[in-house]
Amino acid sequence: MKVSERTSGVEYAIRDIILHAKQHEKSGKEIIYLNIGDPVRFDFKTPDHIKMALIDAVNNEENYYAESEGIPELRKAIVEKENEKGLAVVDEDVIISNGVSEGLDMVLASVIDPNSEVLMPGPYYPPYASYVKFYGGKPIEFQLHQNGGIDVDDIISKISPRSRAICIINPNNPTGEVFDKKNLQKVIDLAAEHDLYLICDEIYDKIVFDEQFVGIGRVSKEAPVILLNGFSKSYLMTGWRCGYICLNSESKRLEPLRTNIPKLARVRIASNLPVQLAAVQALRGPQDHIKTMVEKLKRRRDYTVKRLNSIDGIRCKSPHGAFYVFPELDLGRSWKDDKEFVLDFFDSTGVLTVNGSGFGTKYGSSHFRAVYLPSEDVLEKAMDKLEDFMKRSAA
Ligand SMILES: Cc1ncc(COP(=O)(O)O)c(C=O)c1O
Repeated sequence: MKVSERTSGVEYAIRDIILHAKQHEKSGKEIIYLNIGDPVRFDFKTPDHIKMALIDAVNNEENYYAESEGIPELRKAIVEKENEKGLAVVDEDVIISNGVSEGLDMVLASVIDPNSEVLMPGPYYPPYASYVKFYGGKPIEFQLHQNGGIDVDDIISKISPRSRAICIINPNNPTGEVFDKKNLQKVIDLAAEHDLYLICDEIYDKIVFDEQFVGIGRVSKEAPVILLNGFSKSYLMTGWRCGYICLNSESKRLEPLRTNIPKLARVRIASNLPVQLAAVQALRGPQDHIKTMVEKLKRRRDYTVKRLNSIDGIRCKSPHGAFYVFPELDLGRSWKDDKEFVLDFFDSTGVLTVNGSGFGTKYGSSHFRAVYLPSEDVLEKAMDKLEDFMKRSAA
């Protein structure tokens, strides 16, 4: 039987690597999972008031199909949050999705034709490239500076008549970079000048350690900005699947999308209703879990980065946001590439990371990505294993 050609470009290294780990799970060997960015799998739990709101919604028979674009009370709460971050958005320009993942799918489905090009940071979060390929487009990676900023000249050199959109993830996954206002302004100006959509993913907006986070809305003005955000990370609702799309209400150039994206929202009927009601309480209720989470993560980041930089053959920049490290490796003669390194490291130690090339071969190769979500004792164990493994491999 045939399968569609368009699915052949779909990859997701973060989860694809689990297929390899499954064989070890069967053997009963201990595995330390540093591959998936899911804080709820570690000691970061969904706050009680959000859980109660979900339970109440179900018990109150709020179990029917919701409005396709999302329930009005959640769209309103999102408008208030994003207005506060600087984005000019009104209720009608918010569409609720089953996670940012579905929102990204709807946005890319709406803007890509066969052979369209979409500019994205190298390295990138894998679904950006996968969805672009799925819709027949071509992902084009642009470079990030050594200091972490976006290399705007590199974007300029890669814009072509086929370019449709520029994507930014801020804070970035997998590098944890946080972009400053001047840098963001330059990218916005570029998008506006070349009639490109600017797709900005701010799912880690509240997980920032060392500096002030600047929302894309602060510099958007009338530019065709599409913001993606959601509840998985800051509100610890990964398993519940809730996210949203905001279209910059000041932008007239987004008019066709204002009709198009809701059409896609109607085809998939609606987002999960009880979860949307819980998401309202996430935004309106106490926010103190975020401060506790960021403080805990900062300690774990500092520990992990220090340990990584003390290992021969590994260099790691300290990330400013999110919960990932993306260290560079000296592969030497021990490993053919970063994928072989990750598999060898896992087979020898049971520590599961992700190959950097899974985030784009141009800028991701010779790296690996690990989460620093586990408690310090688990991180210590993982770092001891890595140190020992690197010593043995060099011997
Ligand atoms: C940059 C980025 N966007 C989107 C997602 C997925 O978000 P959601 O759980 O809302 O689908 C992730 C998950 O790791 C992410 O890192």
